[in-house]
Amino acid sequence: MIPSSRFLEAGLVGAADLASAATVVELGPGSGGTTTALLAGMAADARLLAVEINPHLHRLLAGIDDNRLVAHCGSATALDHALRENGLPAPDVVVSGIPFSRMPADDGRAVIEAVRGALAPGGRFVAYQLSDRVARLATPVFGAPRIARWEWRNIPPLRLYVWDRPAG
Ligand SMILES: C[S@@+](CC[C@H](N)C(=O)[O-])C[C@H]1O[C@@H](n2cnc3c(N)ncnc32)[C@H](O)[C@@H]1O
Repeated sequence: MIPSSRFLEAGLVGAADLASAATVVELGPGSGGTTTALLAGMAADARLLAVEINPHLHRLLAGIDDNRLVAHCGSATALDHALRENGLPAPDVVVSGIPFSRMPADDGRAVIEAVRGALAPGGRFVAYQLSDRVARLATPVFGAPRIARWEWRNIPPLRLYVWDRPAG
């Protein structure tokens, strides 16, 4: 599932409200198509931590020439470790492209818990997927999503979800 450029530019980047974020995390950046779109929507002094489990894809990411990007090879379940190791604060936005429907439910729940533990108060968790598995895992933790919609501009269409972590 590779997101199309129209979905990335209008749907994902807009829903994540990246322009106001100082620290952004991308989980499952793959070969970096999404990463490049996220960087284009971010402020000049913001940072993006891209956490990819596949070492080959991580090497491709590390080749993206943008000094706001930190490419980290590891699992999203260890997000707190990735942030600490790279000296980054709690993220304002976490964007996930992880295919939750293709992993055991316990692993998916561990990713969601890692996001909940890492997000800054008032932060956003943004996830896109073909299936609704991420919503079934995240709603018990974050409550109902603020945004839950189909992105018909993507081929095939993708579901896009946004959860807010309360500021208090
Ligand atoms: C559908 S691809 C994302 C495609 C990407 N948006 C792009 O533009 O190329 C999902 C990615 O999630 C990664 N992934 C799966 N489980 C992961 C985990 N636990 N931690 C980090 N990355 C993971 C996979 O290796 C894969 O690269």
